[in-house]
Amino acid sequence: MSLLKALSIVCGLMLHVSLGALNTHYCAPRKTVPYQNELKMFREEGISNYSTMLMRDDLGVLLLGAREAIYALDIDDISVRKSVVYQRVTEEKQRECTYKGKHAEVECRNYIRTLHRVNDTAMYVCGTNAFSPTCDYMTFVSGQLKLQGKQEEGKGKCPFDPFQRYSSLMVGNDLYSATSINFLGSEPVVLRSSNLALRTEFKSSWLSEPNFVYMDFVGESFDSSDGDDDKVYLFFSENAMEYDFYSKVTVSRVARVCKGDMGGQRTLQRKWTSFLKARLDCSLPEPSLPPIVQDVFLLKHEDWRKSVFYAVFKPQSSLSQVSAVCAYSVSDIRNVFNEGKFKTPVAVETSHVKWVMYTGEVPVPRPGACVNDVARKMGMNRSLDLPDKTLQFIRDRPLMDEAVPPLTGGPLLVKRGALLTRIVVDSVLALDGQRYTVMFIGTENGFVQKAVNYAGEMFIIEEIQLFENPEPISILRLSSTKGLLYAGSDFGAVQMPVSNCSRYDTCVDCILARDPYCAWDFSTGRCSSVHSLTPAPITAMQSLKEGDVSRCPQPDPVAAVDFTLVPQNNIQLSCQLHSNLAQLVWRLSDQTLHSNHKYYIYSGGLLILGASESDAGLYTCDSVEQINGRTYNRTVAVYRLQLCSGPRVGDSTTPGTEVTNSSDSSPRVITAAPRPEDPSSPETHSDTGRVTRLEVAVGLLSVFCLTLMGVIFGIWSGGRWACFRFAPVLQSPSESEGKRQPACEYMHIQNRTSEVKLLGPESGRPCTANNNHTAVDFKGNGEHHFTPMANISSLDGLGYINDESEI
Ligand SMILES: *[C@@H]1O[C@H](CO)[C@@H](O)[C@H](O)[C@H]1NC(C)=O
Ligand SMILES: *[C@@H]1O[C@H](CO)[C@@H](O)[C@H](O)[C@H]1NC(C)=O
Ligand SMILES: *[C@@H]1O[C@H](CO)[C@@H](O)[C@H](O)[C@H]1NC(C)=O
Ligand SMILES: *[C@@H]1O[C@H](CO)[C@@H](O)[C@H](O)[C@H]1NC(C)=O
Ligand SMILES: *[C@@H]1O[C@H](CO)[C@@H](O)[C@H](O)[C@H]1NC(C)=O
Ligand SMILES: *[C@@H]1O[C@H](CO)[C@@H](O)[C@H](O)[C@H]1NC(C)=O
Repeated sequence: MSLLKALSIVCGLMLHVSLGALNTHYCAPRKTVPYQNELKMFREEGISNYSTMLMRDDLGVLLLGAREAIYALDIDDISVRKSVVYQRVTEEKQRECTYKGKHAEVECRNYIRTLHRVNDTAMYVCGTNAFSPTCDYMTFVSGQLKLQGKQEEGKGKCPFDPFQRYSSLMVGNDLYSATSINFLGSEPVVLRSSNLALRTEFKSSWLSEPNFVYMDFVGESFDSSDGDDDKVYLFFSENAMEYDFYSKVTVSRVARVCKGDMGGQRTLQRKWTSFLKARLDCSLPEPSLPPIVQDVFLLKHEDWRKSVFYAVFKPQSSLSQVSAVCAYSVSDIRNVFNEGKFKTPVAVETSHVKWVMYTGEVPVPRPGACVNDVARKMGMNRSLDLPDKTLQFIRDRPLMDEAVPPLTGGPLLVKRGALLTRIVVDSVLALDGQRYTVMFIGTENGFVQKAVNYAGEMFIIEEIQLFENPEPISILRLSSTKGLLYAGSDFGAVQMPVSNCSRYDTCVDCILARDPYCAWDFSTGRCSSVHSLTPAPITAMQSLKEGDVSRCPQPDPVAAVDFTLVPQNNIQLSCQLHSNLAQLVWRLSDQTLHSNHKYYIYSGGLLILGASESDAGLYTCDSVEQINGRTYNRTVAVYRLQLCSGPRVGDSTTPGTEVTNSSDSSPRVITAAPRPEDPSSPETHSDTGRVTRLEVAVGLLSVFCLTLMGVIFGIWSGGRWACFRFAPVLQSPSESEGKRQPACEYMHIQNRTSEVKLLGPESGRPCTANNNHTAVDFKGNGEHHFTPMANISSLDGLGYINDESEI
């Protein structure tokens, strides 16, 4: 009985997974662009960890820091290496490091972590140098990189531990860094290395096991009405002190210091007098522990008040797979720091401290404020002049009471699936003269998600696979002027254009892509980069917010493909969609078909199970895509299924047909697809080919399960499939349609490639764009397919049954 139970669970899940595939619209990336060899890539054999980058437009190079190497690559084509310097650890250093218990080949090497511009020719470089961080100056003159060999102490500027996150920033000649200052990594510090070095107080109320992720500079003194100073903002996560919780909770923070800070005279000597921090709020739609900030990008605006920080968050619990993007305006952060209330520690029991809102009197000048007109009026021109009362207050209470709210009240994007790791943001001028904000978000499995928010509606234009293997993207850089994105991972660096409009080969596809970088040019009949069209000709069209294709020329009608029906066989009619958001609707004559005991509809086509004479007829596959509440419907493929008349089915000459020997009593699959050269079917993509094969396998397995269960429960009667026993697990498409969500939440095939990857033996095979002639024989190698499906079930299946009921 337990075997039965296990079987029913596995099969139930499998049916759920397979039918869940119908449920993949809405906030899935509209297009999935699989790995292409055309992308410009850089890596050197034997060198790994390409995780530090510095763009030097002025020198025409991208500086790339890796393990024990620094490269100067052509900024327009990073596969061209202009120069390299190697910075290996000495044997002595490596020995010292291993004596201290670190791994010789992993930790006791030199990982380049810091690359900053100093002046026109010089850079500042730091590496972990076998747990003994060291910095140096480096020049790029007449095409050659050269280290100066100065070997400065890097403690506090660069982490000891190559696995530790850190952040640093060069402002003028001052290096701001946030990292650990000791070997054990237990003493965190926010440090300014300059003539007047300043650091944070070593107290857990200032920093409690932090994980630093990002730093940036905002020139707030410009045009300031109250004589305020410039600031350096820092993003990190740390142990929460403000929550009463049975276990440690991590929270995300933004902190800031003033550029002109000089520390205090007696109190806070050589320490920041302006270190203030606040919690970053990014609440997910479902209850969860606060998400953890992973990376931040500052989208600068001429008016610094309108500059916006975009932050990616990952879930705190490894059980959750929900990442998010939240945006924070500089003015909102500033308001919290400049006007918000403080938190203060209160002893509750002898050993326990609770942080609550401070309601007492706040000294003047305001603690943590930069030296501004208020202070100057009081005769205090420097932080050294600040009174002890102000300094003592801020030394003990660096945390603000209020959290910084996200700009839009909630996350801009919520995404289930592969975790988001890095973000860069571009501001794009579209044909309508408006600017749109496009986010490029790197993921844990080597993809970049290109997303845009149209009036509150999140839209993922496409996801692009940058690395052949699913490696986490460890750094992303954007050159807005060049229209290029640079991504780094453990295994290499890749350059990607911000858009490739030629991917959209029809007007409809170009418009439905809603890519602000692309427009349909009627004069050339091409989807072209808006940039190349300036000044905008009247013959070009975009419809970003609406996705309105009514001005596109009518596509040519699709010609019917003739196909021979062989009774008793399973017939697969393929139909490839050009968008992940589109759904297939099959019609037989004018009757809409639904998945049931006879038909199995999956994203790559239709499976007719155990075909009989009565199945002859005209089958039409429509692609139905919802864009901004509008339905776009277009016929993609038409098949005319005719009964075979000749005695020998093998002689069939019907194009795109494969006929297997049908005298065997078990059902076989016969596949039909429009011919590749058939102009009526432009949308055949290699990625969908792979998914298709998987889904057919799932479909057949589902059938197999149904059969098996049917037999076991003795409800097999007269050759009919008794699938309705499992009705509670099944989902009808109409049910899922009602679940349209504004945020990108319910993405059940969030990650097509990982599913394909799970296919095991299948995955190594190159996928041709037209996988027409594959007859899937589920009897033969069912096991191959079965194992990976069980994996998928255990990964996702249970998960999303729960999710559905939670909605
Ligand atoms: C650039 O900075 C380096 C290091 O501080 C210095 O030695 C060099 O003279 C500077 N060069 C210029 C052109 O300012
Ligand atoms: C460096 O890359 C290797 C893979 O080549 C990876 O295993 C390791 O974790 C990376 N180290 C760091 C510090 O990222
Ligand atoms: C502060 O600066 C003002 C004008 O720059 C000057 O008049 C004043 O004496 C300074 N005060 C102190 C305490 O240095
Ligand atoms: C753009 O897409 C086209 C069509 O898919 C492809 O051939 C081309 O290589 C791509 N260009 C770049 C720069 O990736
Ligand atoms: C799509 O269009 C065809 C023909 O124009 C029509 O028969 C079919 O019902 C439409 N489908 C949907 C889902 O609107
Ligand atoms: C089909 O299979 C039968 C026996 O399995 C065999 O006799 C026959 O020759 C086969 N026909 C074709 C067309 O392969």
